[in-house]
Amino acid sequence: MFSRYKKQPAAQPVETAAAPQTAAPAPAAEKAPAANAIARRPVQQKSAEPVVSDRERKRKERLGEIKIELHRELLENLNLAALEKAGEAELRAEISAIVSEVLESRNIVLNREDRTQLNKELYDEVTGLGPLETLLQDDSVNDILVNGPQQIFVERFGKLEISDITFKDEKHLMRIIDKIVSAVGRRVDESNPYVDARLADGSRFNAMVPPIAVDGSLVSIRKFKKDKLGIDDLVNFGAFTEEMAAYLQAAVSTRLNIIVSGGTGSGKTTTLNALSSFIDDAERILTIEDTAELQLQQTHVGRMESRPPNVEGKGEVSPRDCLKNALRMRPDRIIVGETRGAEVIDMLQAMNTGHDGSMTTIHANSARDGISRLENMIAMAGIEMPIKAVRSQISSAVNLIVQASRLQDGSRRMTSITEITGMEGDVISMQEIFRFQRVGLTPDNKIIGHFTATGVRSHYSERFRLWGFDLPPSIYEPTTV
Ligand SMILES: Nc1ncnc2c1ncn2[C@@H]1O[C@H](COP(=O)(O)OP(=O)(O)OP(=O)(O)O)[C@@H](O)[C@H]1O
Ligand SMILES: [Mg+2]
Repeated sequence: MFSRYKKQPAAQPVETAAAPQTAAPAPAAEKAPAANAIARRPVQQKSAEPVVSDRERKRKERLGEIKIELHRELLENLNLAALEKAGEAELRAEISAIVSEVLESRNIVLNREDRTQLNKELYDEVTGLGPLETLLQDDSVNDILVNGPQQIFVERFGKLEISDITFKDEKHLMRIIDKIVSAVGRRVDESNPYVDARLADGSRFNAMVPPIAVDGSLVSIRKFKKDKLGIDDLVNFGAFTEEMAAYLQAAVSTRLNIIVSGGTGSGKTTTLNALSSFIDDAERILTIEDTAELQLQQTHVGRMESRPPNVEGKGEVSPRDCLKNALRMRPDRIIVGETRGAEVIDMLQAMNTGHDGSMTTIHANSARDGISRLENMIAMAGIEMPIKAVRSQISSAVNLIVQASRLQDGSRRMTSITEITGMEGDVISMQEIFRFQRVGLTPDNKIIGHFTATGVRSHYSERFRLWGFDLPPSIYEPTTV
């Protein structure tokens, strides 16, 4: 029936049907509370299991068993090279025919929904990224984190949860990783055990494989969002207030140099992208990123993506190379997706010399910590300068540090906006203008708090006024609750 796609002698699978794999790790045994643990709250052992009914789970397990067998048959019996050339409709029809044939030969009866699901999964397996495909197509998923073949976590609405999707085994996971990295001309194996890549849809991908990854390959995917969160969305989500947005608009429009600081996944890139919306459409903006994530709305935008060395260790174009070149391309503003190495020198110089209004992000936990990170980066780039000179360079380059944080309840907020005001002796002086004031925790671990101004008037208020952004003094008044 599908001779064109069938390999010539078809090997008969010899394995017995594998036991269905469940995604849930064994929950830790609950300890009886100690007699003296009066002040201690019992540690909540959150169940990592997805909330599905028993019937649903049984259905999935059965489907899983059939799928494992069908996968094997498909992979062993099909001529994948010929399949690659087939059109989508033709391929779907072929797969559906194979599924019918196999189910019939084994006397397995499936309902329509299960059969459609099976067809889809097999199609994803052959043409796409297998089990990951469903998660990639699910718009409510932000991040996908794979810890070996049996455990896939996803982040939805700021919360990490385990998904009921699994890979068949490590070989299956490795095959998908290989498929992704070979599509971008890279390789991952025991001698190159980790790799960064970009998926066809723009999502950021990182993988690390055994033996460095001890319990099976580790994969992290940051999904590319076509519609990035804008200022209004972030205000609506409670990431910052309308007053903070007005202040940030003044800061960006009057060309202050801004650093967005934050931990991994705290919302740095999202904030940077939202801030960029305040840039005037007439300006020429150049962006430099490792993986192009920013989506600027302006007309005059030049985008650059740095490139890691290839398999032979050649062809690297570092962020610093891009930045040096960008300075020759007459930008009004430069936006560097993340500063983490030697490019810090050129970034600070650019900020100091005519490309004011530039922006970047760094990994740091507070504004003060961000300054130390910059100092360390300069030291590690091999620049031998007295610390006072380094600090004075930083203080004259950077005007504002915006702190993005992912709080323990999964919410992302702009926890602080801090201005750099100059030097006092050897120390960089700064003043916080807005902050998120935590006041407590609800019984279900949601953070209670509010944003407030600190009462300090902006160091740049006169500049804002001169540029036509005369902010009312009331926005600097602390919130009383
Ligand atoms: N305030 C917010 N509310 C809800 N979701 C948010 C918010 N800010 C960011 N996100 C989402 O959180 C995820 C991580 O955001 P983002 O990529 O900006 O983080 P990051 O700090 O740049 O991460 P990394 O350190 O990995 O580069 C994204 O999917 C983004 O859409
Ligand atoms: Mg980022």
